[in-house]
Amino acid sequence: MRILSGIQPSGVLHIGNYFGMMRPAIALQSRGEAFYFIADYHALTSLHDPDALREHSRHVAIDFLACGLDPERAALFRQSDVPQVTELAWILGTVTPMSRLELAHSFKDKTARGVAASAGLFTYPVLMAADILIYDSDVVPVGKDQKQHIEITRDIATRINETFGSRKQPVFKLPEAQIHAATETVPGIDGQKMSKSYGNTIDIFGEEKETRKRVMSIVTDSRAVEAPKDPANSTIVQLYSLFATEAETAAMRESFRAGGTGYGEYKKQLFDKLWEFFAPMRQRRQEIISDASYVDNVLANGAERANAIADQVMSRVRAAVGLR
Ligand code: TYM
Repeated sequence: MRILSGIQPSGVLHIGNYFGMMRPAIALQSRGEAFYFIADYHALTSLHDPDALREHSRHVAIDFLACGLDPERAALFRQSDVPQVTELAWILGTVTPMSRLELAHSFKDKTARGVAASAGLFTYPVLMAADILIYDSDVVPVGKDQKQHIEITRDIATRINETFGSRKQPVFKLPEAQIHAATETVPGIDGQKMSKSYGNTIDIFGEEKETRKRVMSIVTDSRAVEAPKDPANSTIVQLYSLFATEAETAAMRESFRAGGTGYGEYKKQLFDKLWEFFAPMRQRRQEIISDASYVDNVLANGAERANAIADQVMSRVRAAVGLR
């Protein structure tokens, strides 16, 4: 089984990234051949600051390693270290209907928020399809916001197979998304999906004071301390359940219903759990940061492993479409 996923270095990683993608990806690294990359070409659709792009790319690598990615098992690499992926994106683009891309909600969301509607942003899903198909990937662990992109990938692969393959010899495998219901959309401090671009994140490796401030500013209703509260629609409970045991979460729900405790107290409990949860990873992160060459070596080795597969697949694709 080949597992693949990517993450954009467009900012600092948050707990939505962690529970939606990083933790499931780390759990899968011992179950097959895993390829995880830093989507720097994709980040260029929203970030035009070279120093920031370099800095974020490096930090995504550091943070992923600190969270438990094992480079002996999973290949960790920069998307741009496998430039053939842009060649494949071009080929895929020649069979992709414009109408399919016009329906993509990520394009609509981003342009609605004021991101410039560049050709790169519009064809973003085609490059993402290339990322997935160039490694003959079977499984793609992602959060729910990426589901449509995987569906587009499957459509594009089917079109290539119908145009250039045969039933006996398809050009591409069809990948499957892996999305876990409990963590498919981690809410941000305002209750919307947590996202770098909504400014509602709690970062994995934020400073203690800032992280506490963010947790304490989670939006709630204005029920008084004594009043019973609704655990079903509470962002606090939803986030707490990610860090606490089932029994602890059940106890918080019960206490909500009973009343007598203010939201501030629950937020403190959430902060304490969250801070404790990431403590070993913070420690590991310090060790990784203090060894400057470690990350470079991991990325170089990951790029080599990724290129070996991408070269094979591209030879097959070039032959199939008639470029060789
Ligand atoms: P990106 O960088 O926006 O997010 C990385 C991963 O984190 C997940 N995620 C979330 N999951 C649950 N709740 C949230 N609030 C939340 N926020 C983010 C995302 O679903 C994603 O899995 N297009 C991709 C990067 C990419 C990619 C690929 C992924 C490029 N090529 C090929 C898989 C395969 C993206 O922008 O993810």
